[in-house]
Amino acid sequence: MNIVLATRNKKKVEEIKRIVKDMPISVYSLDDFPDCPEVIEDGKTFEENAVKKARAVSSHTNMPALADDSGLEVYALNGEPGVLSARYAGENTDDRKNLEKLLNEIRSVPDGKRGARFACCIALAFPAGDLALRDGKAETFTGYSEGSIGREPKGSNGFGYDPVFYPAGCKRTFAEMDDEEKDSLSHRGAALKKLHEYLKGRK
Ligand code: IMP
Repeated sequence: MNIVLATRNKKKVEEIKRIVKDMPISVYSLDDFPDCPEVIEDGKTFEENAVKKARAVSSHTNMPALADDSGLEVYALNGEPGVLSARYAGENTDDRKNLEKLLNEIRSVPDGKRGARFACCIALAFPAGDLALRDGKAETFTGYSEGSIGREPKGSNGFGYDPVFYPAGCKRTFAEMDDEEKDSLSHRGAALKKLHEYLKGRK
């Protein structure tokens, strides 16, 4: 099977390539399809956004396409920042400003009520006319990482909200862990594991 990865993020491309390296799957990236249109992420859920991106790339390339969407849901904020995680502090923002806004929003939330989870949805969309009767269908694989939000940033690894996120049962944030330890506990790791199982069954 050939799969196009609907992302320009090099780290995600490497991660997926690692997952499928022992399978009869050839992985292409958007660099192989420079004319692929940009997709506006305006869905209300991670799943909607992931499916929208995967479908757009699949119909443009006429090949199966993989896309993902992820973010942080803080229970005391009714699930915010959610699908707006990357743009929480505004359109032209950065990780530091998003993180500062989050800490500010939950400043008065006591310890014990600062629960949150990271979510990652991966969608695999098939083109119309797919011979294996998957005509235009999309499969989705969702992973979560439960935990809580600290009071100040700790650690310098990772990205986004990693410095304030303590996975359940851990005394260190994601930003205080190396890649391997974070992958074993992360939402993205959990979703990739489900994708791996699916692809193994498909080869
Ligand atoms: P996207 O799925 O690449 O669009 O990421 C959405 C946003 O969610 C990122 O910009 C981060 O703010 C946040 N996010 C998603 N996954 C993680 C993670 O593993 N650590 C920290 N922040 C994350």
